[in-house]
Amino acid sequence: MKKLTSETLRQLYLKFFESKGHKIIPSASLIPENDPTVLFTTAGMHPLVPYLLGEKHPAGTRLCDVQKCVRTGDIDEVGDSSHCTFFEMLGNWSLGDYFKSEMIPWSFEFLTSPDYLGIPVEDIAVTCFAGDNDCPKDEESAALWKKCGILPQNIYFLPKSGNWWGPAGTTGPCGPDTEMHIIRNHKEADKLGPYDFDNAPSGTFLEIWNDVFMQYNKNAEGKYEPLKQKNVDTGMGLERTLCILNGKDSVYETDIFENAIAEIEKLTGLKYGQDAQTAKAFRVVLDHVRTATFMLGDTKGIVPSNTDQGYILRRIIRRAVRFGRNIGLPQGALTGVSKTIVEKYAGVYPELVKNSAKIYEELEKEENKFSKTLQQGIREFEKVASTLAAGGVIDGVTAFHLYDTYGFPVEITVEMAAEKNLKVDVKGYEAAYAEHQQKSRAGSEQKFACGLADHKEETTRLHTATHLLHAALKIVCSPDIEQKGSNITEERLRFDFNFARKLTPEEVAEVERLVNEQIKADIPVVMKEMSLDEAKKGGFTGLFESKYGERVKTYSIGEFSKEICGGPHAEHTGELGEFKIAKQENVSAGVKRIKAVLIKNS
Ligand code: ALA
Repeated sequence: MKKLTSETLRQLYLKFFESKGHKIIPSASLIPENDPTVLFTTAGMHPLVPYLLGEKHPAGTRLCDVQKCVRTGDIDEVGDSSHCTFFEMLGNWSLGDYFKSEMIPWSFEFLTSPDYLGIPVEDIAVTCFAGDNDCPKDEESAALWKKCGILPQNIYFLPKSGNWWGPAGTTGPCGPDTEMHIIRNHKEADKLGPYDFDNAPSGTFLEIWNDVFMQYNKNAEGKYEPLKQKNVDTGMGLERTLCILNGKDSVYETDIFENAIAEIEKLTGLKYGQDAQTAKAFRVVLDHVRTATFMLGDTKGIVPSNTDQGYILRRIIRRAVRFGRNIGLPQGALTGVSKTIVEKYAGVYPELVKNSAKIYEELEKEENKFSKTLQQGIREFEKVASTLAAGGVIDGVTAFHLYDTYGFPVEITVEMAAEKNLKVDVKGYEAAYAEHQQKSRAGSEQKFACGLADHKEETTRLHTATHLLHAALKIVCSPDIEQKGSNITEERLRFDFNFARKLTPEEVAEVERLVNEQIKADIPVVMKEMSLDEAKKGGFTGLFESKYGERVKTYSIGEFSKEICGGPHAEHTGELGEFKIAKQENVSAGVKRIKAVLIKNS
């Protein structure tokens, strides 16, 4: 196996797939576009869902990239040797182009060739789909692996629970997959039959790559319908692969965190691996500061707040502050750690450098805010905890008080309680919160689960209405209006834009009038592909300028609205119904939010 740095692994992967006719596309934002069911981009395929469902991608049918991803389901587990909330996924896609007979030999070549990863063939095990009522056994993949040279005893079969990927949400593209693993314990592996993979003791195999043969769409009734096109979606976790190739026990011991660890060691006088508790605190700080850096530095950057993505960001920064204090990390130190992260990734994610001032400023602000109340809050917590016996429960009102007065996200209180063998009445906390806020956080809670929006007619129409709203705001408010965020559910659109104040009632009426004028005129929505240069010259708004590389899709609605956009859209504005602004909100000093609906034509 080759020892590689993170930089080399990224380059090798992209170079390999470029040599197989793939176009390299830049990583999309960490904030999914027009996806109401999930807060963050969770896999390389996530930004590509419309194309996996059949939309045409401007860069063609063979794509590869390194996608930044965030998965927040296991935040509380971060601190052990393997969990991270941020990771990079190396991936390649066939959009109705090649399938198993190309992908499997390519995977074999990339893994084993001395020019690439150079993994000895006898150290590789693969698993294939065992078959069920929805989809037959994947004998084809197994035969292809065997032909490549994978030893027959290292080919295993697993049911849906193991060898099926997707949909990312409740509906969407999915299919059987074949997974590649490094054999870490040959003695145990040799004992297993072809259907016994899951019976191996943990640590026998380490997964390295996943090839999904995405040929079904799971519909709302839970049925698997064949997709219009057969796709390939693959994903290789960069950190984990690095860790395995370099024989490390933990992703925190790879080159990615080297400088950040040195910084924390310098500031605390401690050594990362000196004892289990210190290592845990180091890892929490490392992971959370890296994730916060990427969230703050994203092209659609977010800031700490009390809802949705902003709440997750606040929670991870505050958790990092708490663990940082445990190892004597002085106030303001998170910024120093963040600087090492920005430097490490500068060549791959230029947005981090561009937004570095904002990253450090927001990190410092949030750290200072929480530091002010942290000690007092801990004292308050200790007081309550001391009145309870092991197994006791901290009531919801106290947990809410810790949040409201001392800024402790309830999840942190739960974690602190668990350290003392106590529980928290989280339902009681939510009730207290709801009572206080007149609205509960339940809506955003359900978004913590991973999921993808489908492209129902309602969301498509609202997407087109979003373009009209954007154009109308440019006319009514300022030509400098830019989209700062967009989120569409079946019921409403939500559009964030740069503006210092809320719109006056007259301005609201004028925006509605302009949009409805375009709807009444029943104008065709025209899609055209062109180069980025042509699009810029043609006056198209470049919201996601660098996302799709050279060729882009543009949508115009007469001369009224011209945007670079991946679609999909309504065909005619007449389909939209009546446009109405339902609500205005303040996102931050310079960013305002409009929620709007379409009232169906009777
Ligand atoms: N989408 C697949 C995964 O995330 C490749 O594993």
